[in-house]
Amino acid sequence: MIKFLFKLWELNRPYKGRFLLGVFFGILNGLGQPLVLGTAAFVFCVMFTNNHPEDLQKLAGAVPHWVPGWVREMFIQMKQWVAAQTAGSMTWKILIVSLIPLVVLVRGIVAYLSSYLMAWVALRTICDLRVRLFEHLLNLPLSFFTKNSTGELISRNSDVLVLQNMIAVSLVTLISCPVTLLTYLYMMVKVEPKLTVISLLVFPLCMIPITVYSRKVRRAGAAIQTELAALGKVMHESFTGNRIIKAYNLEAVVVNQFKASVSIFRSNCMRVVRATESPGPLIEFAGSLGIAGMFLYMAGRSTSLEFLTFVTALLMLYAPIKNLIRLHSQMTQAQAATQRVFELLATPNTLTDPAQPAPLRAAGAEIHFDNVSFGYGAGLVLRDIQLKVKPGRMVALVGRTGSGKTTLTNLLLRFYDPTAGAVRIGGVDLREVALHDLHSQIAVVTQEVILFNDTIRNNIACGRPGASAAEVEEAARHAHAHEFIMEKTGGYEAGIGEKGVTLSGGQRQRLSIARAILKNAPILVLDEATSSLDSESERMVQAALDELMKGRTTICIAHRLSTVQHADVILVLDEGRIVETGRHAELLALGGVYHKLHSLQFHKEPDKPAHPPPGNGGGRDGE
Ligand SMILES: Nc1ncnc2c1ncn2[C@@H]1O[C@H](COP(=O)(O)OP(=O)(O)O)[C@@H](O)[C@H]1O
Ligand SMILES: [Mg+2]
Repeated sequence: MIKFLFKLWELNRPYKGRFLLGVFFGILNGLGQPLVLGTAAFVFCVMFTNNHPEDLQKLAGAVPHWVPGWVREMFIQMKQWVAAQTAGSMTWKILIVSLIPLVVLVRGIVAYLSSYLMAWVALRTICDLRVRLFEHLLNLPLSFFTKNSTGELISRNSDVLVLQNMIAVSLVTLISCPVTLLTYLYMMVKVEPKLTVISLLVFPLCMIPITVYSRKVRRAGAAIQTELAALGKVMHESFTGNRIIKAYNLEAVVVNQFKASVSIFRSNCMRVVRATESPGPLIEFAGSLGIAGMFLYMAGRSTSLEFLTFVTALLMLYAPIKNLIRLHSQMTQAQAATQRVFELLATPNTLTDPAQPAPLRAAGAEIHFDNVSFGYGAGLVLRDIQLKVKPGRMVALVGRTGSGKTTLTNLLLRFYDPTAGAVRIGGVDLREVALHDLHSQIAVVTQEVILFNDTIRNNIACGRPGASAAEVEEAARHAHAHEFIMEKTGGYEAGIGEKGVTLSGGQRQRLSIARAILKNAPILVLDEATSSLDSESERMVQAALDELMKGRTTICIAHRLSTVQHADVILVLDEGRIVETGRHAELLALGGVYHKLHSLQFHKEPDKPAHPPPGNGGGRDGE
């Protein structure tokens, strides 16, 4: 718990000025309640005693012992002075009585300030934490995202909400309650040290339920957050994959999954409620035992104003104790809830920029896969890849699915580092250059088009932030996209919906090509860019691609061999190895793997519909 508080303090650090101010007001606030009690006693004494000298003497004796000496002195002086001044004057009486509302008002302002400042600090801290977590996750390598589910990661970002409540609300309690508690204790000890000990004897007993329940809270708190993450995952997958869920009537299955998580979530929440609310009454019960014991001890002895104060303070003691216990439970829950957030923040980034990045000039540079081997996990997916791509040339990669084609381009983009060997551009190892530098010089068009829920213009313009409207349109023209864009209501400003649902597959692909054209990078990676399209869209997209490839070093992965016949060199990958290299005609003549792939496709080709059904543009792959 101490470590956890220390972590929070680390997060708060930039705002420590306000935080300490909040703590200061919190302490004042803690003193406030006993102060109100004291003021009431003072006003009571002044108002309800006579002003005769002998009464004053009696009063001096009646001022409770818990009041420090100088206050008592001042109190008597004031009383005498007030008595002399007023002698029954109504104005003075009103003045004295109005002390109570005044003190309450000041206490209210102090309480407001302490809550306000704490909430201020909490919000800033948590927003900083959110940004830090988001930034950290975003920069983690691709491998991290293949292992973690999107929905879960999103819900982890909302885990910090628990922390926000904890800092804003609970810390106020954490500061003011102990102060209140200690003040009351001080009053009690001053009046009746023996009685204080007797009445507090039972308190150690209270620690038992607290420890038992805090363990429960920690476990339940972690479970709540896990289930929330599971809920996030189910929702994310169900909303993004809604077409499939509808088409396959999976609604009931998904709802049941959701229900299961909700029910675990609910029972854990109830566990927290029980664990948070049970200790309070137990403590009160223990306290009442203490009071009963004390009364027993006092039976037959004389009582006084002091004793009355003592009993009042003892009764008042329970509220802060109860609050502190509830706070303990809340903190335990927050600790459990945010454990995963801190774990995520601590996930090391395995693909970092070198300390002294070498400059990269990809234009006119040769790409060299130097004896590269790579595996995602235990087994190797690529083995001993030797490959040189001359600048401005087009290399085609073909092979069965799973042969490692996409993996090869992942290494070129340094989404992963090779297990053995090195990938170089212009003789520079990719591990020596800054990732940002590398990615700015490679344009990628993949089968799976990633579009943002934004306007057409912004979706193209993100290829090169800062590009002018004319440049965006120029790129769209080259990508053979301008015409269909103009047909949309709104043109370039038309929104395209989530993942571009309002566009056909071919249109989406042409937008992503326009984006790549706008980026104008010297190296181009095409990963099955036309594979999911019908033949008409494919023709349009192929024309756009031909435009894009001009003058760039291109690595083109193609499922349909017809698209790579003109490649400068074709590499055939099989189980992670390059098994054949050459031009189309040479490879056909060889009669090997390429020949087999080619004849397979040649025989399949006539099965394909020559024309897609008119109207819908076709080519959607059902996501
Ligand atoms: N993120 C990943 N984690 C683990 N294995 C992967 C991952 N991506 C691909 N693979 C595996 O690596 C092999 C090559 O995949 P890939 O390069 O995508 O093939 P291709 O693009 O040629 O169809 C496949 O066996 C695939 O199962
Ligand atoms: Mg692939």
